[in-house]
Amino acid sequence: MDQSTSRIVQQLKGLRGRDFLTLRDLEPREIEGLLDLAAALKAERGRGQLRRDLEGKTVALLFFKPSTRTRISFELAARELGAFTLYLNAQEMQLSRGESVEDTARVLARYVHAVVIRTFGHEQLERFAQWSSVPVINALTDSYHPAQVLADLLTLKERFGRLKGLRLAYVGDGNNVAHSLMIGGAKMGMHVVVSTPEAYRPDPEVTAAAAAIAASTGGSVVHEVDPRAAVQGAQAIYTDTWVSMGQEAEQEERLKAFAGYQVDGTLVAAAAEDAVVMHDLPAYKGKEIAADVFEGPRSVIFDQAENRLHAQKALLLAILGQ
Ligand code: CP
Ligand code: NVA
Repeated sequence: MDQSTSRIVQQLKGLRGRDFLTLRDLEPREIEGLLDLAAALKAERGRGQLRRDLEGKTVALLFFKPSTRTRISFELAARELGAFTLYLNAQEMQLSRGESVEDTARVLARYVHAVVIRTFGHEQLERFAQWSSVPVINALTDSYHPAQVLADLLTLKERFGRLKGLRLAYVGDGNNVAHSLMIGGAKMGMHVVVSTPEAYRPDPEVTAAAAAIAASTGGSVVHEVDPRAAVQGAQAIYTDTWVSMGQEAEQEERLKAFAGYQVDGTLVAAAAEDAVVMHDLPAYKGKEIAADVFEGPRSVIFDQAENRLHAQKALLLAILGQ
């Protein structure tokens, strides 16, 4: 085991036993530490070295929505660290017949050492965390996707060597991914511009919270209706689906509302020369992103997907390690 990796784990001991729900309650230095740990674990894995710090621990993954990346990367992260994993489909549990979140949380906490949850309302995740005596980790709610953003910050840091002062333009729907990017970017002193149609702005409470955080880190978080103006000088252009899980009934009106917000070649050309293109996936090509941009040389999209594994390994190790 690498000495420097162990030292970073030690420095992160303040995260032991804690929940990971929004990124809002993490100090910038804790996020930096997680990114350093993720980079160290990525390098070790590249050399064929795997730490087994979580041997004897069990991590449950309770999912109310589908997932490819989040499920696979959390399961693999836990297993490569030596932990057991249990994938639990909420539709197959008594939760689907009305058993309460409070009771389910208390039962699971008697069996496992941490619960990773993907659900709808963020308040359901918070309620679960309140009743769980073991740490709860957000694997996406309707309001936040902080595990995604840890991987995104790692990807940007790899590309640019720093986060402070970087300009990121998010173009599309003011959704869970946008919210977490605003909070995570603000914590890291980045300049985040969110460009959405008026009716699809991010939650004003999250915008205000992110702007207040940015004021203390030298960053900024602003909204801009015009996507062309938003990407001026941007070093990263980020987009996400216009129709998130649970919004399928709104598909038609959303596709109309977001016309003009596609990340295409013209928009990318209006950004900084070294700008990267980001997407959390799954992508709907020809909708929020043009196929040639998705496949083009600016894309770091599959680096983001890979970094889910390394970032979440760092998170699990910090929360559950000795
Ligand atoms: N980006 C992301 O969270 O993907 P999944 O929905 O496949 O987990
Ligand atoms: N905003 C998307 C993210 C998918 C990973 C959704 O919630 O469906």
